[in-house]
Amino acid sequence: MSDKELKVLIDEKTLVTRIKEVACDINNYYGSKDELTIVCVLKGAVMFFCELAKHLKMPVRMEFVSLSSYGDAQKSSGKVSALNLSLPPLEGKNVLVVEDIMDTGLTLNFLLDFMRSKCKAKDVKLAVMFDKKCARKYPLEPDFYAFDVDDKFIVGFGLDYLELHRNLPYIGYYE
Ligand code: IMP
Ligand code: MG
Repeated sequence: MSDKELKVLIDEKTLVTRIKEVACDINNYYGSKDELTIVCVLKGAVMFFCELAKHLKMPVRMEFVSLSSYGDAQKSSGKVSALNLSLPPLEGKNVLVVEDIMDTGLTLNFLLDFMRSKCKAKDVKLAVMFDKKCARKYPLEPDFYAFDVDDKFIVGFGLDYLELHRNLPYIGYYE
């Protein structure tokens, strides 16, 4: 992609404004009293996770898991590698899984199955920054999402291409 130009799809102000709105929806859904464990799916969700967490009003615990389904390509490999799934006991807790983008749904299908069967959480919900509905292969929908995206490969704000561009404060794509 080195000969192509990186274009801005969503600027920083639009991103953070919309993420704050998603945080408000999450606050309205859970209320401000009960504890919520938010689980960041590394590495891609890191920026969305931090931006979202700043605006949550309930007592929050932050946890991190590390999964990989893309390898180095732009197309889903069809396999999920669990790099780190160690979590504290979540029995009886409200859990919100936070992911960068739901594409085929393979990664989140795997993680939600794991959380529901092994962790015995009281409730597991899902927040994603981007919903790429057109690519979906698993019957899964996010409970909260910031933006729809069509079938283009996007980078920035945590999302990478070959491990680059995660640091960009905006969402870009190559044209
Ligand atoms: P899924 O398992 O097919 O839903 O793929 C989800 C994972 O693929 C995401 O967590 C991302 O890491 C990666 N991914 C999917 N679409 C994109 C994209 O447009 N840009 C960068 N990474 C993507
Ligand atoms: Mg990811």
